[in-house]
Amino acid sequence: MSASASGAKREQWSSRRGFVLAAVGSAVGLGNMWRFSYLTAENGGAAFVLFYLLIAVLVGLPLLLAELVVGRGAQASPIRALEHFGGRRWRPLGGVFVLTGFLILSYYGVIAGWTLRYAMAGIVGGFAADAGAHFGEVASGWDAFAFHGLFMGITIGIVAGGVKRGIERTAVVLMPTLFALVVGLALYAFWLPGSSAGYAYYLSPDFSKLLSASVLKDAAGQAFFSLSLGMGAMLTFASYFDRERNLAGECLTIGGADVAVAFVAGLVVFPLIFALGLEQAVGGSTLGALFITLPQTFVELGMVGRLVGCVFFAALAVGALTSAISLLEVVVASAVDGLGWSRRRAAWLAGGSATLLGIPSAASLDFLGLLDAVANNVFLLGGGLALSLFVGFAMRDPSAEIAPGTVAARWWPWWRRLLRYAVPAFLIFVLAFALPETWAAGVAFFASAGG
Ligand code: PHE
Repeated sequence: MSASASGAKREQWSSRRGFVLAAVGSAVGLGNMWRFSYLTAENGGAAFVLFYLLIAVLVGLPLLLAELVVGRGAQASPIRALEHFGGRRWRPLGGVFVLTGFLILSYYGVIAGWTLRYAMAGIVGGFAADAGAHFGEVASGWDAFAFHGLFMGITIGIVAGGVKRGIERTAVVLMPTLFALVVGLALYAFWLPGSSAGYAYYLSPDFSKLLSASVLKDAAGQAFFSLSLGMGAMLTFASYFDRERNLAGECLTIGGADVAVAFVAGLVVFPLIFALGLEQAVGGSTLGALFITLPQTFVELGMVGRLVGCVFFAALAVGALTSAISLLEVVVASAVDGLGWSRRRAAWLAGGSATLLGIPSAASLDFLGLLDAVANNVFLLGGGLALSLFVGFAMRDPSAEIAPGTVAARWWPWWRRLLRYAVPAFLIFVLAFALPETWAAGVAFFASAGG
């Protein structure tokens, strides 16, 4: 085992399965279902899906392996891990990761709160006939705060419980449940009359939409968000994994599971929407689409719709929970490693602050959208770029960490070359579009808020 960067005895996953399920739990979340389907609709369907898949494989997987290698090798949270392999001057990057965790968690908890609220609606009272107006109520005011607070409370409780007893135990139970729910929903959608138009929209690309920088930027941001890349979540989880297994294998399992769930979630959402003839709603898709169009579908399906809707939103909430856990864990692990806090204290203080930070997002949908754009298009893509350069240039021999004690595989040097040149070149290109666009969105938001 490699030397630990933090002297104290660290908690570890109890098994390989525990680690993989926790990492898959981090990856699979609102990104796969809410964000993936709303961006797919906004960017014209299958063309976007194709881009996303390519970027996830060619850029996402090499970076995922990079995070795993740094985390397991250093056996420490991001700030210390970067220092361990690159020296003190890399510490600020770890600080940016922690900040990003806070930022995403703050609005992530708000959306997760909506899913809790909707799952409950399936049980008590049913879905409202006027789905648009109902979403307006759910997404603002007291309800939005209350369910955000509830969700964050559950997340904090689990993280405070520890790596093995809190995080691992939750993932081992919830992830298989989630897979079963999503596959069950996709089968249900398949048998629904009229759903085939949804498959056509989702699966046959409109190539006129393919070559646009804006689609590329959204696809890249989505690949990073969905794989939990660019902010040290995967790095942190790998730091509790001390086995000498070949990390390339784990990387493929985690990445494969994430892409598979996103893909299958699309097989739920689009056929459901098209079966009920609600496709005009898809064209004008925005951030709230999933929470308006789908409940409308569920209302029209009557009693069965109530059950299906409840299962759908429960699955979303489950995915959101295991992802929020990993976001909070980045902050908590850093406070435990760096400040010597107890895990319990770190979880409540960090989680509590993220909950308060979520208040503006619970109050304004536009603000939430802006934070999401800033977090993805700036922080995750920028963090990924920095990490790529870190493993590409600053680390002495990253390949040696892939599978310690085994013979180097022939592709290892290619992995490093990818991180040195191709991945950074791609990310710089995307950032060149993403930065001005996000800046303009921010200026527009504050101008309209002020005026
Ligand atoms: N991957 C999670 C999702 O798809 C979100 C996330 C992003 C989690 C970054 C951790 C870090 O919902």
